[in-house]
Amino acid sequence: MSILIKNGRIITAVDDYVADIFIDGESVTHIGKDLKLHADRTFDATGKLVIPGGIDPHTHMDMPFGGTTSADDFDTGTVAAAHGGTTTIIDFAIQAKGQSTLDGLEVWHGKAEGKTTIDYGFHMIVTDMAVDRLGEMEKLAEAGVTSYKLFMAYPGVLYVDDGTLYRTFRRAGENRTRICMHAENGIVIDEIVREAVEAGHKDPIWHARTRPTRMEAEGVHRAIAIAEVAKVPLYIVHLSSHDALEQVRLGRARGVDVQAETCPQYLTLDESWYEKPNFEGAKWVMTPALREKWNQASLWQGLKFGDLSAVATDHCPFCFNGQKELGRDSFTKIPNGAPGVENRVSILYDAGVRAGRISINRWVELTSTSAAKTFGLFPKKGTVAVGSDADVVIFDPNETRVVSVDDPRTHHMRVDYSAYEGHTVTGWAETVISRGRVIVHKSQLETRGGGRFVKRARVGDLLR
Ligand code: URP
Ligand code: ZN
Ligand code: ZN
Repeated sequence: MSILIKNGRIITAVDDYVADIFIDGESVTHIGKDLKLHADRTFDATGKLVIPGGIDPHTHMDMPFGGTTSADDFDTGTVAAAHGGTTTIIDFAIQAKGQSTLDGLEVWHGKAEGKTTIDYGFHMIVTDMAVDRLGEMEKLAEAGVTSYKLFMAYPGVLYVDDGTLYRTFRRAGENRTRICMHAENGIVIDEIVREAVEAGHKDPIWHARTRPTRMEAEGVHRAIAIAEVAKVPLYIVHLSSHDALEQVRLGRARGVDVQAETCPQYLTLDESWYEKPNFEGAKWVMTPALREKWNQASLWQGLKFGDLSAVATDHCPFCFNGQKELGRDSFTKIPNGAPGVENRVSILYDAGVRAGRISINRWVELTSTSAAKTFGLFPKKGTVAVGSDADVVIFDPNETRVVSVDDPRTHHMRVDYSAYEGHTVTGWAETVISRGRVIVHKSQLETRGGGRFVKRARVGDLLR
């Protein structure tokens, strides 16, 4: 199968020019002006942007959590991602306590294999790293799992202590792999939650009121300090607040290899969403919580100037009916997480590029290239170049839609609400190509399935 994309404005993290792209099989083989090549299929991209497929480095498909399981599996979640212009996700395999991480990885391979429409990789969530287990980490790296997520939050569930953090960080550094950190002091937060519950508080807003930004900042500070001593590159996931970002800046200023991602929800929504009537605020119960609105300006500044290096979704959807409702009697029982894998590329274009907060090249960098470089996918993925995978999106920068769970052009996630319901967004993916297969065209799914597991390279290595 060959594809010719004519006259598109090709945008990468550094380029901006009009040309044609020829795709032969799974890769881009030619880029040039007025290519005279015959293709099985031709798209006229005049007036459109042509960008590398989005890479979302933080999703949770089919994840058991909070007494239930996230509503999208690897089939529905990757179809939704594709509709939104994302052609690669990095999801999280989980090691159950006492289980080998290698066995945990097998479980997640079983959930994903043969089901995805786009390519995918895994980070490994470590919940238990006794000394005699450390050798598993090299085997994971050899299997293409070159990053780990550890949690300071969720005591009794995913939380690990500082000794486990240090031990895992150290070996990860020796293996030239990367640590992803959920940085929030869950031990203190649980005490604050206990006080709130004892005082009779039940409503969703208390999810935010019991999670001070200072406790996120403390977690970020501690993770950076441990990473500095353990000599491992660190990546703070879902950073949500000015206080936490300040700690990233301090760490980087003293030379620590720390990066951080934020998410569209922290850039565009705020804690007032929790006060919606009829328990509706539960839809946005996620961890970290949505913050006071003034934090958003600081996060945008971090994205613009480089202290935040990527925008991921933390897509972890739970239906309002039957799942979020588990917490009607207490905010502590609301499953934590929200949908977004379909919305990321467009929201960042609309609220970022169109609003003048970031450049068009930075948009591509934040939604694709940076994650590819950080997580061992570059240059196979994350750019439009000869020899790279033909993960290419034709993006219409002038199309305006109102996001709604009821509009089949804006919502394909298997969840009964949209976190961005009613938002007017300009800029939508029109044609989405994954390794040379047209998977979405004009909101129609043309190909289901065919996604592959990608073995990611180690820190500093290229993936060819
Ligand atoms: O609320 C969230 N973020 N749920 C998913 C798990 C996590 O902490 O990333
Ligand atoms: Zn997390
Ligand atoms: Zn997450």
